[in-house]
Amino acid sequence: MQLDFENTPPAAKDNDSKADAATETRRVTVDDKRIINCRADINQLVPIKYNWAWEKYLAGCSNHWMPNEISMQRDIEQWRAPNVLTDEERHMLKRNFGFFSTAESLAANNITLGTYRLITNPECRQYLMRQAFEEAVHVHAYQYIVESLGLDEGEIFNMYNEVPSVHAKDAFCLDYIDTLTDPNFKTGTDESDQQLLKSLIAFAMIMEGLFFYVGFVQILALGRQNKMPGTSEQVQYILRDETLHLNFGIDVINQIKLENPSLWTSEFQQEILQMMETAVQLEYCYAEDTMPNGILGLNTTMFKEFLRFIANRRLQQIGLKPIFDKATNPFPWMGEVIDLKKEKNFFETRVIEYKTGGKLSW
Ligand SMILES: [Fe+2]
Ligand SMILES: [Fe+2]
Repeated sequence: MQLDFENTPPAAKDNDSKADAATETRRVTVDDKRIINCRADINQLVPIKYNWAWEKYLAGCSNHWMPNEISMQRDIEQWRAPNVLTDEERHMLKRNFGFFSTAESLAANNITLGTYRLITNPECRQYLMRQAFEEAVHVHAYQYIVESLGLDEGEIFNMYNEVPSVHAKDAFCLDYIDTLTDPNFKTGTDESDQQLLKSLIAFAMIMEGLFFYVGFVQILALGRQNKMPGTSEQVQYILRDETLHLNFGIDVINQIKLENPSLWTSEFQQEILQMMETAVQLEYCYAEDTMPNGILGLNTTMFKEFLRFIANRRLQQIGLKPIFDKATNPFPWMGEVIDLKKEKNFFETRVIEYKTGGKLSW
């Protein structure tokens, strides 16, 4: 933490740390700024170096929404009615509520207790504060759904301990989250910087970019049949927020790579590919567990293809080659809402997707 002692009397400056003070208190230029291991004063937002971070902060703010603004009346009626939802649809919904309700808390904790401290750039931190609030809104959304439908809170919120397919996904991420949230963890060596990068990849590309997507497809598919419209609407808002979180994560990861090329070794790249392969298997098990017999025109074969398609995209987004041969998107209707707009290398794109105000508009 540094303060600018611009107005401090000369006598106070003239002490034994004079040399340090002279370098620490000069005005920050964009050239001083770095995403990690930055020594420039972190309290000076401007001059902004990473416009993509500031633009995402503004976009996140213009997408503001609150769960309890969305009516759950029809969902409550449909949940209580004996013939609207099948047992398999109810099972799928409850599993997803179980996964998301705690995964959103993991996301919030990962940012506030881990990432925020280690990202040494004020415009990125400004976005992270907005993102952390949005994760709180997402936790709220699932609490609101669970309460509205009168579900057993203990059952839903303990699924990450009690349901193996949910537990496996969270356990996979927790290994990486624990690195960042360990108060003794510091960056500054290639090894620790690689650990940070790996954790950022696990969180943004895998948790937010892959593990959320089976649930998104399933709940939105239900919504497309006019079932659980309030739940589906909330998930659409969440998906929109998460798309921004994912794209921010991609930009941060690519910028760290650019500023620290020595981290991106071929061994490290191999490790990332292995992580993604494991993640696809975990998410596929989750797909099987949430809908073992196929419902809503969806089946597990489609999900296998979908996950391979998404994993390839995620790898390409951070400059790695796809690992699954010719995977295509079996859910073209998701193409409108998924992050497919960000096709290009991030240096070539401007973030213009979300200047739409509070209402849902893709
Ligand atoms: Fe979230
Ligand atoms: Fe998120």
